[in-house]
Amino acid sequence: MAYHIAVLAGDGIGTEVMPEGVRALEAAARRFNIDIELTHFDFACCDYYLEHGKMLPDDWRDMLIDFDAIYYGAIGWPEKVPDHISLWGSLLKFRREFDQYVNLRPCRLLPGIKSPLAGRVPGDIDFYVVRENTEGEYSSVGGTMFEGTEREVVIQETVMTRHGVDRVLKYAFELAQTRPRRKLTSATKSNGIAITMPWWDKRVAEMAEQYPEVSVDKFHIDILTANFVMHPDWFDVVVASNLFGDILSDLGPACTGTIGVAPSANINPEGKFPSLFEPVHGSAPDIAGKGIANPIGQIWSGAMMLEHLGHKDAGDAILAAIETVLEEADSSILTPDVGGHGNTASLGQAISERIEGRL
Ligand code: NAI
Ligand code: MG
Repeated sequence: MAYHIAVLAGDGIGTEVMPEGVRALEAAARRFNIDIELTHFDFACCDYYLEHGKMLPDDWRDMLIDFDAIYYGAIGWPEKVPDHISLWGSLLKFRREFDQYVNLRPCRLLPGIKSPLAGRVPGDIDFYVVRENTEGEYSSVGGTMFEGTEREVVIQETVMTRHGVDRVLKYAFELAQTRPRRKLTSATKSNGIAITMPWWDKRVAEMAEQYPEVSVDKFHIDILTANFVMHPDWFDVVVASNLFGDILSDLGPACTGTIGVAPSANINPEGKFPSLFEPVHGSAPDIAGKGIANPIGQIWSGAMMLEHLGHKDAGDAILAAIETVLEEADSSILTPDVGGHGNTASLGQAISERIEGRL
């Protein structure tokens, strides 16, 4: 059976790193005998918008819903199309309409990359942030009254549902269970947000009963951010509400160096809808067109996609190839953001050759 993957490169460096992501994917597919079929689409980018007046065709949902996964580059070109139109008109629609309720970001210090945290070496930082991606603090419940008067009042409610919280906690516990350390940390703030957060803690405690092998701790979000910086080695799987997870999922990867290498996944774990895999970075207009963008974030996202599709061995092989190339390649192959003077293609090609064992 073939896996059907929709490929949307997007804008700017998205179109430059995607070919390297595809090359690595195809290399892994050959090595592990995985049948993948890629279908490239030209929508969800700013040029499509300029031509059609919208980011997506009207029937985009029908076009994408039967794919096994979506492999995404980066969207946005603020000079051509305002960000709120390009992002809300594409990426955020996918996340919402395909109920991708888990946002997953690995935070792992790779060899050859300098952590901004002094003295940290590969092995010290290796954890996941699991962010609730559909509800919580980012709700549309609320409003403004008496606008422009002295009585002006504005309210936005946090919405946490048992369905929404339990399913993301379950995902995080299941993930922790597959990892050697089997540790889960919950982000809370029950001392300040005294209704929803004690309830969140209760949901965590109840879920923990079903996973006796996983050890659980929790921190208030303020000290948790400090601990990401002071003690990144404490963490294995960190689960958080939408807002807390948003912050942690930027801080975590930032502790591991350049944004060019960070991957992410927006997952619908039940597979009712396709999940979406994309690098953390955006379209980087400042370096677009120069061919020097680091393709590792895109390639690693592809590894997460293969793992999601049930091929962890292939995903692991891609990550191992990335690590070996970063460790061994000379500077003529590496991109400038990791201290080299090579380009997107030289780094991508080296990784793909390594995946197939040809280097
Ligand atoms: P950005 O991530 O595109 O760039 C930030 C900085 O990191 C830039 O200096 C860039 O050169 C550098 N950088 C990013 N990726 C790199 C790579 N692979 N290799 C080497 N250097 C890299 O963020 P920025 O500049 O704030 O946003 C640019 C556009 O991207 C905007 O339209 C924004 O809305 C969009 N964006 C889209 C995202 C997505 O598609 N998920 C995520 C973040 C931003
Ligand atoms: Mg963010």
